[in-house]
Amino acid sequence: MAKPTSRFVCQACGAVTAKWAGKCETCGEWNTIAEEAAEARPGPARRPGAKLLVETLAGSAEPPPRRQIGIAELDRVLGGGLVAASAVLVGGDPGIGKSTLLLQAAASLARAGSRVLYVSGEEAADQIRLRARRLGLESAPMQLAATINVRDIATALEAERDLALVVIDSIQTMWLDSVESAPGTVTQVRASAFELIRIAKQRGFSLALVGHVTKEGTLAGPRVLEHMVDAVLHFEGDRGHQFRILRAAKNRYGATYEIGVFEMSDRGLSDVANPSALFLAERRGHIAGSAVFAGLEGTRPVLLEIQALLAANPGGSPRRSVVGWDGSRLAMLLAVLDARCDLKLSGLDVYLNVAGGLRISEPAADLAVAAALISAVTGRPTHAGAVYFGEVGLSGEVRQVAQTAARLKEAAKLGFERAVLPRRVARGSGSVGAEGLRTDEIGHLADLVAQFPPV
Ligand SMILES: Nc1ncnc2c1ncn2[C@@H]1O[C@H](COP(=O)(O)OP(=O)(O)OP(=O)(O)O)[C@@H](O)[C@H]1O
Ligand SMILES: [Mg+2]
Ligand SMILES: [Zn+2]
Repeated sequence: MAKPTSRFVCQACGAVTAKWAGKCETCGEWNTIAEEAAEARPGPARRPGAKLLVETLAGSAEPPPRRQIGIAELDRVLGGGLVAASAVLVGGDPGIGKSTLLLQAAASLARAGSRVLYVSGEEAADQIRLRARRLGLESAPMQLAATINVRDIATALEAERDLALVVIDSIQTMWLDSVESAPGTVTQVRASAFELIRIAKQRGFSLALVGHVTKEGTLAGPRVLEHMVDAVLHFEGDRGHQFRILRAAKNRYGATYEIGVFEMSDRGLSDVANPSALFLAERRGHIAGSAVFAGLEGTRPVLLEIQALLAANPGGSPRRSVVGWDGSRLAMLLAVLDARCDLKLSGLDVYLNVAGGLRISEPAADLAVAAALISAVTGRPTHAGAVYFGEVGLSGEVRQVAQTAARLKEAAKLGFERAVLPRRVARGSGSVGAEGLRTDEIGHLADLVAQFPPV
């Protein structure tokens, strides 16, 4: 039988099928299946397997050595710096600032005396030099190469000593000559990444891979890569805003809940040490439908504005439009407000927005969202100096959340004078929270509704 010369590979998940289909049966994505050259079949084993070396769990083990990059927000997300002999994937939308971030990281390490290689398969060396000049990094003693050839890179890396960091921008442009598929295909991306990661583990340097994310999945999304690397960072942000969020989706050497906050300017990305001030910068008080949430991102408290807009529905099923929060969580909250507080919102169009473009996943946001909704429906602004946090249960009860003290402290630091929060079980003397903040403890959502008397 003739050997097949091509096969069909889903560019999103890497599943292989015998023939083309519009939808991938494995991951359910549409229009992701592309024809690729067949992989060479492995021949019969040339030698029997060697005896496997097994070890016990007990034994001496050191935590992995870390190298601080010198960009505080990046070091924070990585879990305290770069780990030697590890691979990190940085994904993000086109133009979000991936190359900028990694160039700054590379330059920072280089200036601190580490050996760094920056390989670009997307831009010519001149383009990178221009960016470096704009960012004021042109004097950083780092090595630069513009190539897509993994074989050439591998040869160069094998000859290197004491490399600290290698940046590959981007993995989708890399090409390994032993694989017939075109750059950007799943097969090629996987083979190139495998080769580069292998060398990183062997030589002990940190490898940073830039990965593109496209909604259509036409390029091999980082999904196939996610399993191969030690950490996956997502670089997010709203193009209309100056700030960017770096979030860990996976980290074999650290927690995944920390976020890094940066501000983007023509001089590059700078650390934002106090995100609350940034997120609240555009807030205008005394508007109905707005409430400030005292949230927690990783170990850091962050204040955010939640905005709700209600509109009469002309007929048909009402719209629920949510940006930055969970749609099903909103549906639950609306049902609870209806059933337990007799607040009729179900016939109205509801638009909910977390101002600034950050995504909240904490249930503690329930109370702030509820405050924004109640404020919108009553037409009464929330207290301008108040923050809200607490989880809401199905019977309308307001539940405790973690880190009350940290949230109150952040609110006080930013000049807030009042906090609406869940009733605390063990109360100390008085209900004064941190730094003179007036705390208003409530046990049921109806107590919150009572704070907005009808006009
Ligand atoms: N001359 C400039 N002045 C100010 N800001 C600039 C300038 N050039 C680029 N930027 C900013 O940098 C961003 C692009 O950054 P960068 O090239 O690092 O993104 P990227 O994620 O690597 O993009 P790509 O996916 O195209 O590789 C732009 O969106 C813009 O905000
Ligand atoms: Mg780029
Ligand atoms: Zn698939």
